[in-house]
Amino acid sequence: MNGRLELALHFFKGQFRSMPLPTTSYAGRTVIVTGATGGLGLEAARHFTRLGTARLILACRDSERAEAARSDIQKSLPDSSTTIEVWPLDLASFESVRTFCHRAEKELDRLDVLLANAALLAIDKPKMAEGYELQITVNVISNTLLILMLLPLLKRTAATHNVEPVVTLVSSLGHILTTFTQHSSPHIFSTFQPGDHMTERYATSKLLGILIIRELAERLNAAHHPSHPSPVVVNTANPGMCKSDLFRNLPAAGRVVVGALNQLLGRSSDQGARALMAAVAAGRESHGKYVDSARIVEPGSFVRSETGGMVQKKVWGELMEILDGVEPGVSGNVERALAA
Ligand SMILES: NC(=O)c1ccc[n+]([C@@H]2O[C@H](COP(=O)([O-])OP(=O)(O)OC[C@H]3O[C@@H](n4cnc5c(N)ncnc54)[C@H](OP(=O)(O)O)[C@@H]3O)[C@@H](O)[C@H]2O)c1
Repeated sequence: MNGRLELALHFFKGQFRSMPLPTTSYAGRTVIVTGATGGLGLEAARHFTRLGTARLILACRDSERAEAARSDIQKSLPDSSTTIEVWPLDLASFESVRTFCHRAEKELDRLDVLLANAALLAIDKPKMAEGYELQITVNVISNTLLILMLLPLLKRTAATHNVEPVVTLVSSLGHILTTFTQHSSPHIFSTFQPGDHMTERYATSKLLGILIIRELAERLNAAHHPSHPSPVVVNTANPGMCKSDLFRNLPAAGRVVVGALNQLLGRSSDQGARALMAAVAAGRESHGKYVDSARIVEPGSFVRSETGGMVQKKVWGELMEILDGVEPGVSGNVERALAA
């Protein structure tokens, strides 16, 4: 069968598949969900609360919306004993990410789950943040900074509590929809300018996320003796196409098309959140893998190609240089997190 047709069939069939109700207990656990003001993040936070999470941090840039999300969860689960806290986190600002992570180091005695869910899709009116196009900064650079800065705490949690902490970075099937022509540039990150290839920028950001998590997983494994696997499981998750506010920044015509498609095929935010919860609960088998609608599957062909493998290393190298400029020595957390 033609590859595109096969992909379209996979997408359509997948959209009608019901996502399992999450049942893993998070009793005694501490969980961070980013972008929990609405959509999938809010529904994932509600599942974590229902499943007995001891301490749940809603990491959000808009404190009013985050407080509304917290009371919405509390109202829907009045008997829950989860302590829900709202902490400010704006992924468009490296300083905000650093402040958030330093606070986590200081105030959290454990971290069992980081659900790196927050992201944005923006084609119109491209913006810059921290010297890069906004989606690259938010979806890629800051998310990686967040993960690397929290690695020592995740590692300590594994060692102290004999558990397997998880980082799930939310991705998208969209990762296969980009030409990613920038991959052959001598410096990939500097090519992501506003106004250039904007229609595929979001998809590119999701592809970069998959490459980064694969490389991180490999490096975590390599830093360890084969008989002692990485204490932290990292994976990526695709929730499928869901009804949420994600498409609010599309141009009007795009909003109409996506809105109509979503009416026909879109999962509810709760169904999308269940797909994310499935990735969080997927365990060691999912380390470095792509969990699509609650199943571990192979990512797109570029990721699996020889070129993709080389680009993955190049992207990692460039990104570590950027991040070490933001938080000196942070790249060393991959090895350090495992050596202690
Ligand atoms: N919906 C889909 O069809 C679909 C498909 C595949 C993947 N995904 C992925 O699923 C995840 C959740 O998206 P969603 O559909 O639930 O969309 P959404 O309703 O737009 O939620 C996105 C969340 O990210 C937050 N966010 C955006 N920019 C941020 C920043 N600079 N700093 C901190 N938080 C920021 C938003 O906060 P504000 O309230 O402040 O805006 C919001 O809480 C995303 O990673 C998205 O790419 C969604």
